[in-house]
This record gives sequence, C-alpha cells and structure tokens, in this order.
Amino acid sequence: VLVHDGPLGGTCLNEGCIPTKAMCAMDAPDQNRKNEIIAQLQAGIAQLMRNKLITQVQGRARLAGPHSVEVAGQVYEGDAMIIATGSVSAYLPIPGAQSALDSAAMLNLDYVPQRLCIIGGGVIGLEFASIYRKFGSEVTVLEYCPNILPRFDTDLSKRLKAALVKRGIAIETSACVTAIEQGCVSWTKGDKAFTTQAGCVLMAVGRRPNLRSLNLDDLGIKYTPRGIETDSDFQTNIPGVYAVGDITGGMMLAHVAAAQGRRALNHICGQSDGIDFSVVPAVVFTVPEVATVGKSEEECAGIDVAVGKANYRANGKAVASEEADGWCKVLADKADGRILGVHIMGAHASDIIHEAAVLVALGATTKNARDIIHAHPTLSEVLYSAIPNV
Ligand code: NAI
Repeated sequence: VLVHDGPLGGTCLNEGCIPTKAMCAMDAPDQNRKNEIIAQLQAGIAQLMRNKLITQVQGRARLAGPHSVEVAGQVYEGDAMIIATGSVSAYLPIPGAQSALDSAAMLNLDYVPQRLCIIGGGVIGLEFASIYRKFGSEVTVLEYCPNILPRFDTDLSKRLKAALVKRGIAIETSACVTAIEQGCVSWTKGDKAFTTQAGCVLMAVGRRPNLRSLNLDDLGIKYTPRGIETDSDFQTNIPGVYAVGDITGGMMLAHVAAAQGRRALNHICGQSDGIDFSVVPAVVFTVPEVATVGKSEEECAGIDVAVGKANYRANGKAVASEEADGWCKVLADKADGRILGVHIMGAHASDIIHEAAVLVALGATTKNARDIIHAHPTLSEVLYSAIPNV
C-alpha cells in the first residue's frame, strides 16, 4: 500500500530533478512543455503501480502504531512500514524571508525576471542561476560560505565559480543576508553592508526533513531536527519501521533515496546486498556541469595523495564540439595507487562520472585505469588523461 498526499513522483519528478532538467533544455520558460514531461513520466509510474498491483491511498498518513497507519480515519496494517516523506525548503529566519520564492515556486514562474537574486550558492541556487542566466535574467548569487558548493572539492568549486562569472552570473561569497524588503536584499560582507535590488528572490539555503504530522513522538521513533535516525539497513529504533530518503537528513539525492529503499526492502525480505553508500556520484546541472565521486582533496588530508589534472581544451572531441571549457581532477593514494576521488567540470560530466564511480567503488588503482583502452575521440579521454602517475 502506497500512501501519498501529493502527486506521484514526489519532489524529484514534480518540483526537482526532472522539471529543472526540462528547463535546462529550453531557451525560454515553457510551462506547457515542462508539465507535459512531468505528466508523461507520471503516467509511466502510474502504470508501474498498476502492473505491480500496488494499492494507492491518497491522503496524509499518521503513524497509528508500529504496524499501522491511519489515513483520514481509515487504518491500514502491514508487517513493515517505510517512511519516505522527503523534505521541504528551509527559510532563513530573517525579516521578509517569506517574500522569497522557493525552488518549487520558481519552477512555476511564467515570466523571466529582469533581476534575480539567489540566496544560497549550493546545488539548487546554482542550477537556477544557470537556467535563468540563459533565459536572460541578471543573476546575483549570495553565498554565506567562502566558496560556492561548500561541501565539494574546493578546487572544483573555485573553477565553477570562475566559469559561472564568465557567463555573466554575479557571485558574492562570505555574504551574510540580513533582510529582504520590497525586492531589496540586504547583506553584509565583513564589516561592510550592501543591498541587491531584484524583482525576484530565490531562497535556496538547504532543505529540512518533512517530519510534519507523522506522529513520531507517540510511537517513540527517534529523530532530531536533522531527520529520522536509522541503522545501516535504514530501520528506525522501532523494529519493522524504516525511513529512507531526505527524511533521514543524509545526502538529499534521489539516487541515494532509491538505493536506501532497496536496502530497506532487502532487509525486510531477509536478504543482504552490497550497495556501497560511501561511493555516491553527485552531479550539479549548471552550465558547465559539475560531477564528483569519492573524496575531495580536503577529505584526503592525512593521506599522501597524487593529484592528476587534465583540461577539456586538450581533448580532441571537446575542441571539435566546441565544449572546451572544462577540467578533470583524479586523486589517488600514493601508497597503493588506489583512486580515491574524481572531480569533473565540463560538458557531459554527469555521464563521464560513472566510469569514475566504477573505478572508486571497485577499488581500482591508477594502473588498472590506465590499462583500460578508452575510445577516441571521446570526452571520457579527459578522465583517462587526468590519471596521476603513481
Ligand atoms: P545546499 O545545502 O546544497 O546549499 C545551500 C547553500 O546555502 C549552501 O551553500 C549554504 O552555505 C548556503 N547558505 C546557508 N545559509 C545561508 C545564508 N544565511 N546566506 C547565504 N547562503 C546561505 O542546499 P540546496 O541547494 O537548497 O539543495 C537542497 C538539497 O537538494 C541538497 O541536498 C542538494 O544536494 C539537493 N539537490 C540536488 C540536486 C542534484 O543532485 N543535481 C539538485 C537540487 C538539489
């Protein structure tokens, strides 16, 4: 039984991954096309639900017991239960915050704002910055940390910043936003105060788990404001009750949620799997794209690492297809040659990263990787060229 109070497909399909990718492929906002794409994929999921004989219950679920859920007065029972209620946009506690749009509202905008101010230079902020810059907006990004994408490899985030600035996006880092008043965003940097005028303000400072009305306290399910706590099988402290995805407050990525769901199901069915949750490819669909897997150079502190780098502009395919703005970095352990992390900025980084994910997940060494023939001419040769000599 699947209980849901929104449309099928959740954040990813309705107000996240898919509609933003639809907009990445457009030269001007086209709500009809975006909605068609969502409807097409939703129909596919609905068909899957029918094929698998899954009963759908529309409404908000409240946990009534470890084996029962109540929806509008009706109780449904099961041996196991998985909570996957996702996350909602976080808002800064500053005056006027509610006048800013969140990413979901931004996707329904049917005009191109002349000036767009984005609070937060994380994944959502930068994807919208690229989309609306392409649509013709003057875009300013205000990021609190010293670097955009603060959790990513610093080298990568610096190169991305330069590439976005080159495309006309204004980026202010170490910027602390203090108020939003009638389209005027006030912020400070050090001891100086600034304002940015914008007809449209996007709040993109993270997401928080959607714990609302689940009734976790009555059941004694352990959680913090960061999310529901689980073990490595995604089981909560109450046997038979599992939690996966953004509600657990970990990496808020659709592919991580899906993998967690598979792990939870395997555990419910008494099966084990080898899903490696330490190797998670992550992609940011900016222009140029950014993709990463494994450790950042900062996370390699304490390890003697070899660093290899290669530029797209030395790659025949990239130059021939006029996609020469890009770069790749491979980190390997000098002691045994193992590839620890790969960071890519450039065209099709989102596709190339999966070769890197295979190398990192299987514990491949630089020698293993060099022994693999790469087809020519392809962008994947950039990864090959970046393998350090250890
Ligand atoms: P995020 O955590 O990626 O970025 C939030 C940014 O806001 C951070 O850089 C943070 O330093 C900054 N920030 C925080 N407080 C601030 C303040 N007072 N003033 C200015 N900046 C401030 O969160 P985001 O972008 O909202 O995305 C939410 C989640 O959705 C993330 O986990 C992200 O990975 C996921 N997501 C993934 C996508 C993908 O995989 N392509 C696409 C979009 C979202």
